[in-house]
Amino acid sequence: MTRLPRTWFSAGSTGAYRVRAIKPVTGEGLPPARRVHVGARPENPGVAWTLCGVVSHARYTESREKEALGLVQPPLGRPEATMAVLIPMSKSARWWDLAQDERRAIFETSSRHIEIGRRYLPAVARRLYHARELGEPFDFLTWFEFAPDQERSFDELLASLRRTEEWSYVEREVEVRLER
Ligand code: HEM
Repeated sequence: MTRLPRTWFSAGSTGAYRVRAIKPVTGEGLPPARRVHVGARPENPGVAWTLCGVVSHARYTESREKEALGLVQPPLGRPEATMAVLIPMSKSARWWDLAQDERRAIFETSSRHIEIGRRYLPAVARRLYHARELGEPFDFLTWFEFAPDQERSFDELLASLRRTEEWSYVEREVEVRLER
């Protein structure tokens, strides 16, 4: 159990984000909903689904990578970044059975997750939530914000990451496209 504050994503009929599409990428999808509320409490009359996660410490980022990202990563909530994408994901038991050094080798040495992602900054703002330890249905909730004219480029980023060795360990992934 964790003492970290939870962030809740409640999908239903109210909330600041309008659902544009919910697309199952790998494994089971999520039920349809009209809007998503993001906040410190679950809420939504007529809730379709609720997910929560916590912002936790970095596992794989090395100091020089952290520094390089720090120079270019934008904050969340920029007024022009009206598009948001929530991507809940889970990795397989095969991934979780690996040792830390093996996971880092797949994540960056082989898959270049940070190197690929960094090319899309500062256009994309992001936040990673951990949910596995909370007993949630997904291991991670990933959140992205960008301006409407950056959507094609964001799609290209998704395609690049999904071709990596890291993604061969992804057993469930759902794309929830939102607009503020
Ligand atoms: C926008 C550019 C991106 C950047 C700069 C980026 C950067 C990072 C970094 C630095 C980490 C490591 C956190 C740690 O040390 O624990 C990470 C983890 C992660 N990222 Fe990305 N990322 C990007 C895009 C994406 C996208 C588009 C997805 C999903 C489709 C994604 C999914 C994840 C997941 C699930 C993790 C956790 C991996 C694990 O702990 O096994 N990232 N990302």
